[in-house]
Amino acid sequence: MLRTKQLTKSFSRQEKTFEAVDHVDFSLDKGEFCILTGPSGCGKSTFFHLVCGITKADSGEIFFNGEDITNYSEKQLTELRANKVSYILQGDSLLSNFTVLENICLPHKLCGRYEGLEEKAMELLREFGLDTMAYDYPSNLSGGERRRVAIARAFVHGPELVVADEPTSDLDEENTAMIMDYFQRQAAEGKTIIISTHDLSCIRPDMIHYVMKKGVITRA
Ligand SMILES: Nc1ncnc2c1ncn2[C@@H]1O[C@H](COP(=O)(O)OP(=O)(O)OP(=O)(O)O)[C@@H](O)[C@H]1O
Ligand SMILES: [Mg+2]
Repeated sequence: MLRTKQLTKSFSRQEKTFEAVDHVDFSLDKGEFCILTGPSGCGKSTFFHLVCGITKADSGEIFFNGEDITNYSEKQLTELRANKVSYILQGDSLLSNFTVLENICLPHKLCGRYEGLEEKAMELLREFGLDTMAYDYPSNLSGGERRRVAIARAFVHGPELVVADEPTSDLDEENTAMIMDYFQRQAAEGKTIIISTHDLSCIRPDMIHYVMKKGVITRA
């Protein structure tokens, strides 16, 4: 479902160029639940930005469901992210002037998707223990609550692939387990999920574990 061939992205700092993502060959099949670990600065977020089309690679190729998306236009990438590929940002990503429910639904409504959306959003809020907060603004929520809202937003429209950058970084143990259970169930139902984390206790036996080091990804 997702495949990269020799994917490379370089950055420059203090006149030195380095490969943040260095000739990465990577593949994920439908329904796989994959975890990417590695030290801070090894290139995890950069890799995720490349596969979601947020950043353009310098070289290499990306295939989604067998289709070469490497040279997709911005419009095609936006469409792909609106329908099939959800990306959960590492940092805070909610819009402060919109309620929790609006934050979950708005991006999808802008794509013309209305039917059953709010019901599904409320269902997810209930599942994530946030249903009493649907009409609150993000500033009235804790970091972990905001994180769960971002996760609900990524799943509400039933995407095929979810790329989540440290989705449990501000969650306590109980909520981490709850979110990991949710991911696992979604993968069992056929969604493909890749997450990055520094929390090795997240790793479960049925996950595929990859490690990134200085831009290079290998199977753990
Ligand atoms: N736009 C940019 N310009 C220059 N360097 C960048 C840019 N974005 C990232 N980098 C550098 O590329 C490297 C990889 O960064 P990246 O954010 O992918 O790491 P990461 O593995 O996600 O780290 P963390 O675990 O801290 O989130 C780092 O050295 C970072 O400083
Ligand atoms: Mg990162």
